[in-house]
Amino acid sequence: MRSLPGLAGVALFALGAGTAAASGQTGQAAGRALAQAAGQRSPVFGRAEHLRHGVNTALWFAQSPADYTVNRLQTFTTDRDLQLIASLGFDHIRLSIDPVPLTEWQQGRPEGKAFVAELDRVVQVALVNKLAVVLDIHPESSYKQKLLQGEAGVADFDSLWKAFASHFAQADAALVFFELMNEPEQSDRYRWQGIEAGAIAAIRSVDTVHTLIAGGAHWSGLSDLLNMEPFADTNVIYTFHDYDPFPFTHQGATWAGSELIPLREVPYPATPDGVAKNLSQEPTLAGALFVEAFAMSHWDADRIDRTLAFAERWGQQYGVPVYCGEFGVFRRYADPAARQRWLHDMRVAMDRHRIGWSMWDYQTDFGVVRKTGTGVEVDRGVVEALGLKAEK
Ligand code: BGC
Repeated sequence: MRSLPGLAGVALFALGAGTAAASGQTGQAAGRALAQAAGQRSPVFGRAEHLRHGVNTALWFAQSPADYTVNRLQTFTTDRDLQLIASLGFDHIRLSIDPVPLTEWQQGRPEGKAFVAELDRVVQVALVNKLAVVLDIHPESSYKQKLLQGEAGVADFDSLWKAFASHFAQADAALVFFELMNEPEQSDRYRWQGIEAGAIAAIRSVDTVHTLIAGGAHWSGLSDLLNMEPFADTNVIYTFHDYDPFPFTHQGATWAGSELIPLREVPYPATPDGVAKNLSQEPTLAGALFVEAFAMSHWDADRIDRTLAFAERWGQQYGVPVYCGEFGVFRRYADPAARQRWLHDMRVAMDRHRIGWSMWDYQTDFGVVRKTGTGVEVDRGVVEALGLKAEK
């Protein structure tokens, strides 16, 4: 949500797969050793090739704590939706999952068991449709806060991952991925990397084959990625989220800063003249300054490209694949043409920098479709902006 940019440099660097972990090297030294090793390519890059053009199936198995009944799970996003996602040309879904019902499943409670049974079914339907699946643990903030201090929340998180990875240990490892946690909201990046290392160890105690996805602290933005050091485990893809520039992508949003709430029809690309009308939408000086900074920011295709190049460079520096798990525009108040242009510029830059991506999201406020009472309307402009097959 409150983040910056994702996946990089798949073909450009060669790796000595497995050697760092085997030799006990960690972090930067391991990454550099891997990046310097010549003539081999880590298998993780082959796995990353299955995550090139995806979409987030949001607010389905996550962010709907009031209703995870099987009836809602089976009707909110359906098998037909998954077929449509595949037919549009997406190669994967990023399936966000609330850890609370998973904990209920761990405890053997009926509602948790029903939730996981439905999750199993959905993963099978996705695979039948040749969609890879990122199983993304996507908690509410209250769950993340338990990880900020002490060991109890961390122990629960490790235990959850051990159980969850065990459950999916037989799933096709070419197509099923484990993402440790969406936007962890952790302020201490060292502590967060330690928590991730612990979760990786918990998973590896029961599953040595699946590819993991790990992101940086805070909101897993681009700068959080750039401040990360890779883990010794070589079967990890590194993720970031990119919603820059926020005054454009989150115009009118109520959950990411008060200065965003009054904004309407914010232009992209940003020019001082184009943004002038948005200055008058802000009731406070702080809001006006926020818009003034955006007016002078020169956000356009070139800036997006230069920014995303840093994700690719980080991946090259460490010899690891990088993935943008979320990018998108809140559509309620955005000019459709400007939204399509930003999505286009992002997609072109990510493809150019060999960054696999997953757009936020399939059908909610940032969606690629609108669900009506009677059917599903595909936003063809968005599909074209993503370089996919709008004719379907
Ligand atoms: C959050 C969503 C939010 C989106 C865009 C996601 O990470 O989980 O609630 O709509 O970011 O802000």
